[in-house]
Amino acid sequence: VIMFSKYFWLSLLLAIVYFLYSRGFYEKIKSQLMEGTLNLADTIYFGLNENSGGSKIFTISELERYTNLENGLYLSILGQVFDVTKGEKHYGSGRSYHAFTGRDASLAFITGEFDDKGLTDDISSLSMQQVKALNDWVQFYKTNYIYKGKLYGRYYNQDGSPTTEFYKIQEKLLLLKKEKALEEAQNRMFPPCNVEWNLDIGTVFWCTERSGGIDRDWVGVPRMFFETAQSSSRCTCIKLDSKEYEENKARFKEYDGCDKYATKCILGMNKM
Ligand code: HEM
Repeated sequence: VIMFSKYFWLSLLLAIVYFLYSRGFYEKIKSQLMEGTLNLADTIYFGLNENSGGSKIFTISELERYTNLENGLYLSILGQVFDVTKGEKHYGSGRSYHAFTGRDASLAFITGEFDDKGLTDDISSLSMQQVKALNDWVQFYKTNYIYKGKLYGRYYNQDGSPTTEFYKIQEKLLLLKKEKALEEAQNRMFPPCNVEWNLDIGTVFWCTERSGGIDRDWVGVPRMFFETAQSSSRCTCIKLDSKEYEENKARFKEYDGCDKYATKCILGMNKM
């Protein structure tokens, strides 16, 4: 009897699973999850959501109309459309940045090249830092102007969902964020020294409880820090009795002529 009921329940469960599958239940959940993730990503990276203003999808030719005061001055950056009419002195006809209106010229926000070649939304040539700088421009427009919607093209599909190209940029931004976080964590662990260069004395490295802008309850001693085996060194303040120091000992080197426990090292000119 027990065996029978076990198989019975198992079959019932399988039947339910199959029934849901055949009705496209899982696909629906998947797409809803994706949608949620997309909206979240959108909100995080561009600080935008459907409540923050217009959510119109512009076509390229539609956007082209917004280059004058009658229709309004609109520009697109990374596929996000903003009304910049109030910045007429910058964007109006004959003004310095008029070329940005009526199109998505994302690349030119970084290169400053306002010719036909430069006025493009193709930013594949940009470095990660430059993509970050471009994203800062998006934040600038979001703060100072009116968000109108999305441009159907390179960064958004016809239904307003982000394109693969959009995700590529997000990945770059995410990677940069991670690198920054790693660098910050490393800086907290091994804070930079104060540095001063003096014509008579030479270079002076010294540690304080605030050096490198890292507030802490220890001072530390200056050491040459080789972040990677190939990299040149930077001066860091290390806490001699810390676990972090013990575990990374091979990456540090004492400064010539500086006492092991001194919080200040003076490097003569000839030793540089
Ligand atoms: C990559 C190059 C550049 C880009 C993409 C760029 C872009 C812009 C944009 C979009 C604005 C308008 C900002 C707003 O809406 O308030 C602006 C304003 C301005 N830019 Fe540039 N710019 C560039 C280089 C320069 C350079 C080299 C100079 C100086 C020689 C300059 C001087 C100014 C000035 C004076 C303003 C007006 C500031 C104000 O009145 O509030 N820009 N720039």
